[in-house]
Amino acid sequence: MNALMIDIEALIRPNIRALKPYRSARQDYSSGVLLDANENAFGSAITFEGLDLNRYPDPFQTALRSRLAQLHGVQRENLFVGVGSDEVIDLLLRIFCEPEKDAVLILEPTYGMYRVAADVNNVRVDSCLLTDEFQINLEAAKQRTKADTKVIFCCSPNNPTGNLLNRADILSLCARTSAIVVADEAYTDFAQSEPLISDLERFPNLVVLRTLSKAWGLAAIRLGYAIAHPQIISYLMKVKSPYNINILTSTEALKALDNTNHVQRSVASVAAERQRLVRELSTFRFVEKVFPSDANFLLVRCSDARSLHRRLAQRGIIVRDRTSEPKLENCLRISVGTPEQDDLLLNALRELEQ
Ligand SMILES: Cc1ncc(COP(=O)(O)O)c(C=O)c1O
Repeated sequence: MNALMIDIEALIRPNIRALKPYRSARQDYSSGVLLDANENAFGSAITFEGLDLNRYPDPFQTALRSRLAQLHGVQRENLFVGVGSDEVIDLLLRIFCEPEKDAVLILEPTYGMYRVAADVNNVRVDSCLLTDEFQINLEAAKQRTKADTKVIFCCSPNNPTGNLLNRADILSLCARTSAIVVADEAYTDFAQSEPLISDLERFPNLVVLRTLSKAWGLAAIRLGYAIAHPQIISYLMKVKSPYNINILTSTEALKALDNTNHVQRSVASVAAERQRLVRELSTFRFVEKVFPSDANFLLVRCSDARSLHRRLAQRGIIVRDRTSEPKLENCLRISVGTPEQDDLLLNALRELEQ
């Protein structure tokens, strides 16, 4: 199928296509004598940097979306901001997948929220295993994509395996299926790869997800975003709750986006520590394999992951046990820490090796 022929409108759930979205007060007026939104005219319980905390924030997030669009060389109409990319994942399911009828395809092992979000929305989850190199099994994925497969999630770099998926394979799914292909690039800043954003014009069914939670170090403010065809963005705007992004988050995000130095520094620090951890972890007797990583974590296969996870936790070192995931028997996922934190991890492992 020629991707350019894909009719996005036809993929939208009929009730969403017909939806009359909520019209919020701040949509029409944001200045003047504001007596239209049942806000507290007598001020807010606390103050913060002169912000009007008593007023509902901009429902369109115009300034923030413009700034992010500028950062990525796209238009504001290509950009949607959510309460973390987790909110965007949920909204995409709600827009495209009819509960009890449609399906999503996930490429496992992968980020657990795709399945959870589908389960919450009562949408069937079809799964296709990644290859032994944790790449897309293209033939199997295409076979698993049926007429009712509305969304395919491709996580690159993939959580928890850490590797980039082959870009050509993701684009092949865009070109050869009629589903929406979500490329979740939460960890892309840590990788050396050409961003998929440059392919959006060719593939209207491609949705790129990004987040400020990783390289920007802002997991607590909850800001993720989608970059996609304006038609998809307009539906995301239609179904979101009116004031999903609060003013504290958007103000702090706007400030942070000027600090690209932080991203450069943290990416460099992660790369250096990641390299050290790969080297050091590989020397332990109980470590069987440290998988190559393009992200800020490492997947490590050990002789007994459950026991190692427990014994590290007893020493206050918390890593993630992924052993129950398909293809990840005896695997731990270890986030790259600061040099001091990584020393503590390595020292604990040395103790355990005695
Ligand atoms: C692949 C992937 N996508 C999305 C997210 C969620 O990001 P956010 O904090 O923006 O909701 C995570 C969080 O760990 C992740 O690993």
